[in-house]
Amino acid sequence: MRSPLPDRVRIHPAPLEGVVHVTGDKSLSHRCLLVAALVDGAVTVSGLAPSADVAATTAALRDLGVTVDLAPESDGRLGGTVVGPLRSDVAGHMVEIDCGNSGTTLRLLAGLAAGAGRHVRLDGDASLRRRPVDRVLAPLRAMGVEAHARDDRLPPLTIRPRALHGISWDSTVASAQVKSAIMLAAVGAGVSAEIRSPHPSRDHTERMFRHAGVDVEILDDDGAEIVRLSPGRPRVASLSAPRDPSAAAFWQVAAACGSGGITTPGLCLNPGRIGALEVLRAMGGDVRISGETEVDGEPVGDVTVLPSALAGGRIDGALVVRCLDELPVLAIAGALSSGGLEVSDAEELRVKESDRITVLSSTLRALGIMIEERPDGFWVPGGQLPDSGSVDAHGDHRIAMTAAIAASLGTGSVDISGFRAVGTSYPGFLEDLAALGGRAEALDE
Ligand code: S3P
Repeated sequence: MRSPLPDRVRIHPAPLEGVVHVTGDKSLSHRCLLVAALVDGAVTVSGLAPSADVAATTAALRDLGVTVDLAPESDGRLGGTVVGPLRSDVAGHMVEIDCGNSGTTLRLLAGLAAGAGRHVRLDGDASLRRRPVDRVLAPLRAMGVEAHARDDRLPPLTIRPRALHGISWDSTVASAQVKSAIMLAAVGAGVSAEIRSPHPSRDHTERMFRHAGVDVEILDDDGAEIVRLSPGRPRVASLSAPRDPSAAAFWQVAAACGSGGITTPGLCLNPGRIGALEVLRAMGGDVRISGETEVDGEPVGDVTVLPSALAGGRIDGALVVRCLDELPVLAIAGALSSGGLEVSDAEELRVKESDRITVLSSTLRALGIMIEERPDGFWVPGGQLPDSGSVDAHGDHRIAMTAAIAASLGTGSVDISGFRAVGTSYPGFLEDLAALGGRAEALDE
């Protein structure tokens, strides 16, 4: 058993180098469970992240009567069986579901429950209660679902069973969660769906459904993305999650800006997930990909990043969606580069686990790094080294891990409070840091 994460840690500067097998991919872990729940019969799942967010999805499915048996595999990730299908409840009893900190659980489950004709009330922690759900509420209503939310916008979100019909939806945000909620509802209800988004976003749900025999097409309409799904049930015996590229990004930035190379084998290399590697390369980073293969419809491979002198970078437009979760740690690469990093078109950062533009800015300033906060992004000038300091993660796992990477690359020790939030996506972060030569000290009494 892994020991629980300390809530307060001190990270000391240290050169990082080596090979690290990061945790299972968060997005794919959720989807393995949710898609398996739509299959008639037992599905073997493997490679799942042993994280709090994935545990929230597991518990939610159990609350809805799906049998989910999971146990640690030899490398600490989770595997086991899911026995579906998720059934409708003729009596229409309401099930209260606690999604914890997990936006993916809440939004995808809204679709799954709607499609299965289940009456649910989806709620979460204080951070999740601040995050918008109108983006899934509106399309689900357009499919005929009766749905209510606080101020028509925020959790808790209530879904009531109704007969669903097919949908053609124009989403104003490029969001994989919105697309996935609609697709899960459509598959469960046996109806068709067409979703148009301003840019492509991660297409894990599309790939997993296709792998399970559902007819899903993805079209490019002059930069906009159109997904077309025909009615059909998924049939598949096993689903697996490769390792998480968003977790690996912390080590990749540490390698690019540090003094030793870091290899992260077995990563999901879905084109919608590797924007951080594109950015590092564009800044002059030495990024090498090998051992490419395909696992259950997803591209997978080993990534090595070697130290190099980084020039400046710029992230905007369609690239933002491909590296949205990695923007906090890329800001560290910007500070350590010669030319800095400018990010725009990223207002979505404000509705993540924290307002990531404001919280990132205060975190970097506390470490002596200048950053200009903008409504839709930020500008971090280059040529800056993180200093010692104290920061608060504000309940945001990616801010806590970004601060730990800044500390490892910096000039003095950094105290991070609220570090326990890291368990949301990457409970083994401190073990992996130590394996690469990092130095962390728990400050909890
Ligand atoms: C996710 C999609 C992204 C991402 C989040 C996980 C998913 O959010 O930021 O961490 O698994 O579908 P949006 O789709 O809301 O942009």
